[in-house]
Amino acid sequence: MITRLASHIFGGLLCVGVLIFAPDSTSAKDQMAKVADQSAKVASATAKTAKAGNKVQSFLPSYITIKGHRKLTPNDWTDPKICGQCHPRQYRGWNGSMHSNAFKDPVFQALWALAEKATDGKMRNHCGGCHSPSGVATGTIKFDPKLGKHGGFTADPLSEQGISCDICHTISGSNIQKTAVLEHGNTSIILDPGNVKRSSLKNADSPFHETKYSEHHASSKFCGNCHNIFHPGNNFPVERTYDEWKYSIYAQNGIQCMDCHHRENTANHRIGHRHFHPAI
Ligand code: HEC
Ligand code: HEC
Ligand code: HEC
Ligand code: HEC
Ligand code: HEC
Repeated sequence: MITRLASHIFGGLLCVGVLIFAPDSTSAKDQMAKVADQSAKVASATAKTAKAGNKVQSFLPSYITIKGHRKLTPNDWTDPKICGQCHPRQYRGWNGSMHSNAFKDPVFQALWALAEKATDGKMRNHCGGCHSPSGVATGTIKFDPKLGKHGGFTADPLSEQGISCDICHTISGSNIQKTAVLEHGNTSIILDPGNVKRSSLKNADSPFHETKYSEHHASSKFCGNCHNIFHPGNNFPVERTYDEWKYSIYAQNGIQCMDCHHRENTANHRIGHRHFHPAI
């Protein structure tokens, strides 16, 4: 846990230039030169894509795309409290979880602010993609240098709730074939908010919304779209939770992330799995 978190944060800091730990050492200077080089590469790739009028990948360096390339607003997703009226157990599990705090998380906000300042905003969609996909997709994320110690971010009320019910349940597929490493990661998701809610129940019938069976939602690949991070400049792995699983004995035995993180303690209830995504 500590190592993985440390490597993630270190990865974040690599993007920022290791400003905190050793600003005067030669290796820190080397790192900063490398980061400047990588940031320039990201900037040039982003500019090239924009010039080519690439409507398909509008949120680089995140690999988020929107089905039908339509323009989205926060009203395209439904507030989790509404979902919670009929799905109270899932709501209790999600509310207060890391997913619900992914945008507000003060540690995240501080590192994101450092990245914003060090790269002139070029990392905004990278970090924001996973921590608030709707904020990136609707362009409502704003940076306020006066917030907090390092500056902070705000977004529309739905996007400030991070990864909410309707984000996950309207994801219609993965953009694995579009990523630089041809693997799940860096928010390789297709957003398709609307009345169709997707998950792994067969023949679900709801009076409030349409339902659709989604094999993606029953697979670790779904989680891997965000739980696999590589540096957007040089594609170096920053955090590889999904890859670690993929080469583990669990994957060989067909045991998915959900089988451990998405279950009642002992029973595999069809309805009402826990949504804590607990780290146990
Ligand atoms: C066999 C059960 C099992 C499977 C399969 C599994 N996990 Fe875990 N996971 C755990 C346990 C247990 C912990 C707590 C480990 C610890 O704290 O050291 C954990 C910890 C985590 C954490 C917390 C942070 C950390 O670094 O420790 C994350 C995030 C996570 N898992 C995501 C995933 C994802 C994504 C997948 C699928 C790609 C997955 N897990 C597959 C059991 C599992
Ligand atoms: C991080 C993504 C994610 C978030 C956030 C999330 N879910 Fe889920 N949910 C899933 C996945 C994946 C499944 C399929 C689980 C499986 O196969 O074990 C699922 C299953 C479900 C199901 C089907 C029944 C069941 O329990 O298996 C319902 C209903 C549901 N979620 C509602 C909600 C609600 C309501 C919220 C918000 C309070 C929410 N979900 C938040 C990923 C998410
Ligand atoms: C591909 C998706 C993805 C991207 C991109 C991403 N993160 Fe994360 N972030 C995660 C996941 C998943 C976790 C939880 C990891 C775990 O515990 O294993 C996390 C956890 C964190 C944490 C730890 C939060 C805490 O309170 O413990 C910080 C800090 C953080 N991220 C900062 C950043 C910054 C800064 C950036 C941009 C440079 C960034 N992240 C980009 C997915 C991402
Ligand atoms: C008026 C009650 C109601 C509300 C509000 C509601 N749902 Fe449902 N939902 C249901 C019922 C009933 C089912 C069917 C459960 C079954 O068949 O086991 C269902 C099923 C689902 C499924 C399973 C779909 C599948 O095919 O696997 C998901 C996912 C889901 N809801 C997500 C949501 C989300 C996200 C929201 C908020 C945007 C929401 N629901 C709001 C009643 C509701
Ligand atoms: C849209 C991107 C996204 C998806 C999809 C996603 N996660 Fe996460 N997850 C995150 C982020 C970002 C965090 C860290 C939030 C923070 O603390 O700032 C996180 C945190 C977690 C944690 C808590 C880690 C800890 O250190 O306690 C677990 C466990 C977890 N996710 C499991 C899963 C599982 C299992 C799935 C698939 C069902 C999944 N996630 C799908 C982005 C995502």
